[in-house]
Amino acid sequence: MSKTRIKFICSTCGYESLKWLGKCPSCDEWNTFSEELVEVKSKKAKHSETAAQVLPLVGEAISEDERLESGMSEFDRVLGGGIMPGSVVLIGGDPGIGKSTLVMQVAAKLKERVLYVTGEESVNQIRIRAGRLKIKSDSLFLLAETDLQIVKSAIEKENPAVVIVDSIQTMAKPELENAAGTITQIRESTSDLMQIAKTNNIAILLIGHVTKEGYIAGPKVLEHMVDTVVQFEGEKNYSYRILRAQKNRFGSTNEIGIFEMKHDGLAEVLNPSEIFLSEREKEITGSVVTASIEGTRPVLLEVQALVTPSHYGNPQRVATGFDYRRLSILLAVLEKRRNLKLSSANVFLNMAGGLKIDEPAVDLAVCCSIASSFLNKAANPEFVMMGEVGLGGEIRSVSNIEKRVQEAEKLGFKSAVIPKNNIKSLKGLNKIQVIPVENVADAIKLVIKDS
Ligand code: TYD
Ligand code: MG
Repeated sequence: MSKTRIKFICSTCGYESLKWLGKCPSCDEWNTFSEELVEVKSKKAKHSETAAQVLPLVGEAISEDERLESGMSEFDRVLGGGIMPGSVVLIGGDPGIGKSTLVMQVAAKLKERVLYVTGEESVNQIRIRAGRLKIKSDSLFLLAETDLQIVKSAIEKENPAVVIVDSIQTMAKPELENAAGTITQIRESTSDLMQIAKTNNIAILLIGHVTKEGYIAGPKVLEHMVDTVVQFEGEKNYSYRILRAQKNRFGSTNEIGIFEMKHDGLAEVLNPSEIFLSEREKEITGSVVTASIEGTRPVLLEVQALVTPSHYGNPQRVATGFDYRRLSILLAVLEKRRNLKLSSANVFLNMAGGLKIDEPAVDLAVCCSIASSFLNKAANPEFVMMGEVGLGGEIRSVSNIEKRVQEAEKLGFKSAVIPKNNIKSLKGLNKIQVIPVENVADAIKLVIKDS
């Protein structure tokens, strides 16, 4: 017989305490404890009678080519080249961002048998969505259920290759006294589903909502349990959506998948550069195009800066999609090495299209866009700029230079401004002119006429 007792659990990290606490001692978050019933396992249960099965390292393993490919390449790539059999993938994202739409489209494209368990919508609602997405699949089956016991027996009976659970917060084990959506229920349900995935070699895609703090499904413990965590993000006002891996036991976490939400579902964006540059105004001050590497793909994007005089003591600095501290450093470099009086100016910086960039190769474009807005002169729109800017104002070399320059060439840019030390590793370009630069002041002079 197992007993239950009341405990307080941190909804962010899963830390357990016997009394309520205002601040979690484990993750330092405030006001995250909620009261829950926790089963106390009897000590005897720990000693299992069955002997452990020890296996040698060398032996049969699932090979890479057994991955299930949905044919939606943006999705497959983020997972590392398809869905791994026996893996559990958590797909997180804000409500209404398009998680159900994404998994539905992936499910329809898979050739294998898929069971779609929904605890949020009725079968009818799912069918309406499928109609809108023009999905016709004979191997996709629906189950509207929140009782995990029934879900488990359905999985055993139907024997699908992939199970989708939409969402993990709605699933509940009836033997636990906690309500669905509590940390104990989420954790226990996930652990049961993990067990099913591993023993039957079934891939399970779990959908999880994001709390207002930005954590998937409440407790961080969930992220530790599953094999892969991907986040589906995007601004509500933009139609672009980005799928990003945060953790992946079966692949890298560098890849992103880009989609566009249309009236008939999500469309893959296979040429992101064209999209990110499509709304660019050419002869505008403060706009410079750069080449960034997202995962293994080069992406051209527009860096926008707006510099205005500050009439109050504290000038404002706002960076969207770029590190705030990095911006402060680059402003100091511009002030010192190019004599731009930015310390008394408001600076707003934006990576157009909603991308978040954290690689130093965009430094040069950031500096030139700020200089362009400050000097009120447009930068040459035919140039793509890339390079890391050092504290001395020197331009340092960047990785994957060839990919970046090739992408610029493909999109019809006339010139690429690159770090001088990168010039050696470039070959095989015919149309684009490559201009090496050594320091930020020279680069500004080059792209901004009469500066
Ligand atoms: P949904 O997949 O239900 O989001 P989630 O599961 O993440 O909560 O999609 C929600 C939004 O997507 C909804 O506001 C409508 C929009 N949408 C489209 O624009 N086109 C479509 O074809 C579909 C199915 C949804
Ligand atoms: Mg949904």
